[in-house]
Amino acid sequence: MGALDQIRQKMVADMEEVGGRHDEPEIYDGEPGDPGLAGGPGSMSWEINGDIGVIGVAGSAAIVMEVLHPSVMAGVFTQSSYRTQPLQRARNTLGYVLRTTYGSTPGATAVIERVKRIHTRVGGVRPDGREYQALDPELIAWVHTCIPWAIMTAFDRYRRPLTIAEKDRYLAEQAVIGRMGGAESVPGSVAELDDFVESMRPELAVNEQTRSFIRFLAEGTIGDDVAGRRERADRWLGLRGSMMLMPAWARELTGLEHGNVAARLASERYEQLKANLGRWAAPVLPCEEMARRRAADGGPESADGPNRAAAPLSA
Ligand code: HEM
Repeated sequence: MGALDQIRQKMVADMEEVGGRHDEPEIYDGEPGDPGLAGGPGSMSWEINGDIGVIGVAGSAAIVMEVLHPSVMAGVFTQSSYRTQPLQRARNTLGYVLRTTYGSTPGATAVIERVKRIHTRVGGVRPDGREYQALDPELIAWVHTCIPWAIMTAFDRYRRPLTIAEKDRYLAEQAVIGRMGGAESVPGSVAELDDFVESMRPELAVNEQTRSFIRFLAEGTIGDDVAGRRERADRWLGLRGSMMLMPAWARELTGLEHGNVAARLASERYEQLKANLGRWAAPVLPCEEMARRRAADGGPESADGPNRAAAPLSA
């Protein structure tokens, strides 16, 4: 095996350790011809959500944006096992995106229903005294929206520029999943996304729980190792790099802003390199391959995936 193959295999093993493998037959196999919930082959969702490099870059920003809503923060802070099982949480969150995009219709629907059942138990009182329930349609809409918003922005910046029409298609495909997850109204176009984010801004805030959560993302223990100085510095950099996908007001609110233009430029190149490396190591994920076989109804030609390996390796 060549040195490059060895590097690629090691990267895939590392990525799978953090994010999981995502090849469960009960989710991704199924009735021949079933496109699943997000549009199937040819959809924007299948093109964008299979780019693991892009998802890796977008993940932290999506999570930080979600918890900028103090009700979401309170739920995660008090009822999630993110401190004791951070890898499991990361896998389940990534798994949700992949399963709802590439899963068979019954497989993806069952995943959504299971997560909804978990959310029926999530609720309580925020530090400021306000009550919340995870299944509040507005909260579901907010958390749902942060995920495709961050991924779409990362794809547009680090993979290829998207037209407004392509972004509209992607958001409309993903909105189906948000509504099934319990949201009543979910942005299905760029214009609706902008309006929704503006309408939510007065609700968003950083409190002690948010600060502690962000510190955990950057400095907390992952696996058995206590994060060393270098790893902590790298994780702060990654968080700031990911948050560059988001508007300036969100970076200012969270304090996740690079100090100067030179740092921003260097960080953007680093994020580009990470996106390219992830895509190079795993150009087509097992779940996408399985879904393409399923949806193609056995026809080998339509089972061909996108050529994500064509991206350059340099930043
Ligand atoms: C569409 C919106 C949402 C999505 C896609 C989502 C996704 C998920 C997923 C995939 C899990 C993991 C289930 C598992 O362990 O397999 C989960 C658990 C959880 N979610 Fe959500 N969620 C959403 C909204 C919310 C909201 C609004 C809140 C809080 C107000 C919340 C708080 C939690 C908590 C506390 C858990 C339990 C995590 C644990 O066991 O550690 N979620 N969610």
